[in-house]
Amino acid sequence: MFAAMKKLRTGSLIVTGMLFAALAGVSAPLTLPLPPETVQFKPGKGAEIAGAQCVLCHSADYVSIQPALPRAFWQANVQKMREKYGAPLPEPLVAPLVDYLTKTYGKEK
Ligand code: HEC
Repeated sequence: MFAAMKKLRTGSLIVTGMLFAALAGVSAPLTLPLPPETVQFKPGKGAEIAGAQCVLCHSADYVSIQPALPRAFWQANVQKMREKYGAPLPEPLVAPLVDYLTKTYGKEK
């Protein structure tokens, strides 16, 4: 009786493990090393704001894959992140962040 229960429990653990493996898209329940974070914000004045505020919901590559866009884009983008998507970026950090994004990823004008 006890032995049967033990067997049952082991069985369900294996099933759970397989389920996780299936969800992760791999065939074996191995440890799943995450790929190293290769895309990070480029260094520069204000990079720490982006590093702290702009990776809460998505990775830095949302920024780095954008073409060199003008300041108006970054201004509007940061406003959109705050107002539409709820980024908790404090108002006094908006200007320095837009500066950083324009200089580092965009183009002046
Ligand atoms: C202030 C730092 C910050 C920057 C810069 C930033 N995000 Fe976003 N961001 C989003 C969502 C949602 C999208 C749209 C994703 C999609 O369309 O797949 C997005 C998309 C983007 C895009 C792609 C272009 C676009 O407009 O869709 C850029 C660039 C971007 N974010 C920059 C939620 C957030 C949240 C969550 C509260 C935070 C914090 C956030 N974003 C912080 C930031």
